[in-house]
Amino acid sequence: MNPHILPIGSLTADQVRKALLAAIAAPSLCNSQPWRFHCTPSVIELHADRSRTIHAADPEHRELVLACGAALLNLRLTIRVTGVHPDVRILPDRTQPDLLATVRPAGPRPATPLDHALVAAIPRRHTNRRPFLPSPVPTPLRSQLRQAAEAERGWLAFLDQPRLAVLQNLVHRAHQAQLADEAFVAEWRQWIGRDGDTRDGVPARTSGPRPEPQDEWVLRDYSAGQAARRVAGKDFEPEPLICVLGSFQDSPAAQLQAGLAMQRVLLTATGGGLSSSFLSQVVEVPTARADLRALLGGGLWPQAVLRIGYGSPVPATPRRPLEDVVTCEPTPAHASHGHG
Ligand SMILES: Cc1cc2nc3c(=O)[nH]c(=O)nc-3n(C[C@H](O)[C@H](O)[C@H](O)COP(=O)(O)O)c2cc1C
Repeated sequence: MNPHILPIGSLTADQVRKALLAAIAAPSLCNSQPWRFHCTPSVIELHADRSRTIHAADPEHRELVLACGAALLNLRLTIRVTGVHPDVRILPDRTQPDLLATVRPAGPRPATPLDHALVAAIPRRHTNRRPFLPSPVPTPLRSQLRQAAEAERGWLAFLDQPRLAVLQNLVHRAHQAQLADEAFVAEWRQWIGRDGDTRDGVPARTSGPRPEPQDEWVLRDYSAGQAARRVAGKDFEPEPLICVLGSFQDSPAAQLQAGLAMQRVLLTATGGGLSSSFLSQVVEVPTARADLRALLGGGLWPQAVLRIGYGSPVPATPRRPLEDVVTCEPTPAHASHGHG
């Protein structure tokens, strides 16, 4: 049954539904979708759903919070394009650490063309684990990606060739460390390479090609289910554009903010005709993350490592239905009429 979605502030029920659907289109580690939304007559609350933690890869819930930040950006932008200002409070209640943010539709505010362009990119953004074309990403587009991170108080570092070589080694080491961890591998197999009609986890059809020795960049075996096969004659691009999304702190608030920045980079990439994928092992294995932090100069916290380039279309990954992730609190008027 669909949740009975009600108007919130000046938003109609239909606008609220669209904003929530945009929120759940956000990316999340293993498509775990670790969020819950509680709607009151005046506010949408975003809660972390820690029952959806990927324990071995993300024991401290950092990537879980990043994913919620990405959902929050989609929610905020989608409310903005209705011409309403979304008043966002991050971690508004110290006594409720799982309440990551509240979004209150406030007064009218016209949306910008950029808001519209970013919202148009939400349903078109998909993680693309396949090889990209060798064509380089032009400098103006790189600048837009950097500005997108900065607009959400994040930063985006593009790695030059010498640092790329170091990163490659770090990714390799982190990948080996995770493969040697039985708990990691067992949990990974539960989420990745699923067959059939699944609403969470990563289906085999989007897992990407099996890594082969020459596949320097996509080492994480997302095709552990063995269903995906490399496309004949296609190798990974020789000089990938790899960038690191980072933050100035590593607190939950900073991680949530980094999730907003990460999503804005991904949407900007999609709007610019680019595809993207993640290389997360290097930020999941603590020693590799520390080494990456040092590689970037030591003052900043690496939150996500992205590979960006020109890719061919990939299928969308399914989401859980709204009824699984949304609860709505009726207004007294609605309650007394038996709605809700
Ligand atoms: C914090 C974070 C880390 C991720 N790490 C990886 C990764 O290491 N490898 C990968 O292939 N996908 C990774 N993903 C992508 C998710 O698997 C993907 O978002 C999810 O399956 C939903 O698919 P979609 O992005 O196409 O909507 C990550 C996503 C997030 C938000």
